[in-house]
Amino acid sequence: MGDTPSQSPEPVVLTVCTTCRPEGADPEAIRPGRILADRLAGAPLPEGVTVRGVECLSACSRSCTLHLSGGPERWSYIYGDLDPDTHLDDILAGAAAYAATDTGFVPWRERPVVFRKQSIARIPPVSMPGVELSPAAASNASSEGSDAPTEMPPAALAQD
Ligand code: FES
Repeated sequence: MGDTPSQSPEPVVLTVCTTCRPEGADPEAIRPGRILADRLAGAPLPEGVTVRGVECLSACSRSCTLHLSGGPERWSYIYGDLDPDTHLDDILAGAAAYAATDTGFVPWRERPVVFRKQSIARIPPVSMPGVELSPAAASNASSEGSDAPTEMPPAALAQD
């Protein structure tokens, strides 16, 4: 599922948690996410990409964390276990590839390794229709104790 070059005017935002502290780290030391956010802010960001720091993305055990988003029409992603010393270039490359899409969906092989291996979550765009739900069937299923799966994800997205 490829994507054509972006016509989207929506800005792409790298939102970095500046407050997580890896287990065992010195509580007085500068947080790695703060270092990552500052380095990204000082880097030559891809066109249309901005960076901001926030306090907590609720993925605290996966420090450093960041959220990659680009408006209501794009998928967004949360990545974790990021290292400000080794992942800066990959994050910039991944953000550039993401910004070049209208949907936020970058083909698997075109993503930097850190975006392939360290995704915590992907969030569909709000404009994407959801799976058709059947509340009546759910109430019947729960009374019967069924735990059968409903629908498999599209194969193209299953690698996320
Ligand atoms: S403190 Fe960083 S994700 Fe919670």
